[in-house]
Amino acid sequence: MTPQKRILLGVTGGIAAYKSPDLVRRLVERGAQVQVVMTASARRFVAPLALQAVSGRPVRSDLWDEAAEAAMGHIELARWAELVLIAPASADFLARLAAGRADDLLAALCLATEAPICVAPAMNRVMWAHRATQANVATLAERGVRVLGPDSGPQACGEVGLGRMWEPAKLAESLLEPPPNAGLLQGLNVLITAGPTRERIDPVRYLTNRSSGKMGFAVAVAAREAGAHVTLVCGPVSLPTPAGVTRIDVESAREMYAAVHRHVAEADLLVAAAAVADFQPRSVAEEKIKKQGVAIDLALEPAPDIVKSVTEMAKRPFVVGFAAETHDVEANARGKLKRKKLDMIAANRVGDGLAFDCEDNALTVFWPGGRTEIERAAKLEVARALVALIAKRLPPPQGVARRAARKRRAPPTPPRTRPRARRIRR
Ligand code: C5P
Repeated sequence: MTPQKRILLGVTGGIAAYKSPDLVRRLVERGAQVQVVMTASARRFVAPLALQAVSGRPVRSDLWDEAAEAAMGHIELARWAELVLIAPASADFLARLAAGRADDLLAALCLATEAPICVAPAMNRVMWAHRATQANVATLAERGVRVLGPDSGPQACGEVGLGRMWEPAKLAESLLEPPPNAGLLQGLNVLITAGPTRERIDPVRYLTNRSSGKMGFAVAVAAREAGAHVTLVCGPVSLPTPAGVTRIDVESAREMYAAVHRHVAEADLLVAAAAVADFQPRSVAEEKIKKQGVAIDLALEPAPDIVKSVTEMAKRPFVVGFAAETHDVEANARGKLKRKKLDMIAANRVGDGLAFDCEDNALTVFWPGGRTEIERAAKLEVARALVALIAKRLPPPQGVARRAARKRRAPPTPPRTRPRARRIRR
């Protein structure tokens, strides 16, 4: 992070607001500038003066405060923020945020800002578990709002359960620590495929597979954390778009092929995590095929092999494939590495609660002349390890060491109007 990150801290009405001065202190300790904005009910739980003292800035609350608006209007304040953190985020505020209300200063700021928004919910466990709250949180996550917590434990109301705000230290650390692999893929264009494809049989039926898209989405998050510009081409999945990632939704292998080829010329790296159909119906029936109590034959033809079409290009990016296998993992993966002319392949065994439609994965990664294991862990952790490995193996001049060396040697270059990633030459 930049040491002077400008954080707009929204404090809403909940007992966890008594921790807000401590949160401000911890954010400031880590080099942030903090502007506190309180809702009217937050002012009943914590004194604005305390927050002013620790942040060093007058607290804002009122959309109609002429003096404050004259100093920095709410739109300017929304622009000033590099990050908006709502902590504690009450059930009521989450509902207002999800509904897009602008009925007080904090809600209006959240609508008017282009900065990423994080919320740290805090409420009674029954309120948290309520379907209305869960639907609001899902809406917010879908829109790219980062939801931090809540934790489980004893609550102010005397109950025990999920609904405690993350502790200030944990919030400050997760917001202001540099992300894992920070800078490893800085400025590179990374294209990722994820999820299954659907191959239409007739207007109501299709062929597909069990891929959830979670691994590809995790790679997108990890590549973004590493500083890349990420374009994620995904088949039909029900996952929120990771913050800062450009998403392109497709349905069939043919559509995925077309989307990849629209962007691959710009890409330095392609990670093909999609479980693309191997076969597609030779023709799509225009009307629903009627059952007639007898077997039918479905004529299938090979779907386009996206990854192979990319590795056959004269000027190609570094290409990493995935191989999900039920048996002979190593032999199959090595075969694909060679046959598809990949630079690297991440193989995993399917089954035993691994790979498809689950939270964990474990990979064996092969490249010409080498291999390594990535131990079983949450998919995001596995994706981060894979990104670190890819960054090591990217050919010069993108190889990290070479880039760093060039940076040390090179005279300062004049700033470009639009930053462009260097292309891989092969
Ligand atoms: O399906 P298969 O095991 O051959 O997949 C290996 C790799 O090839 C994966 O990275 C997958 O995304 C990619 N692939 C593709 N187009 C296909 C089939 C697979 O890009 N039609």
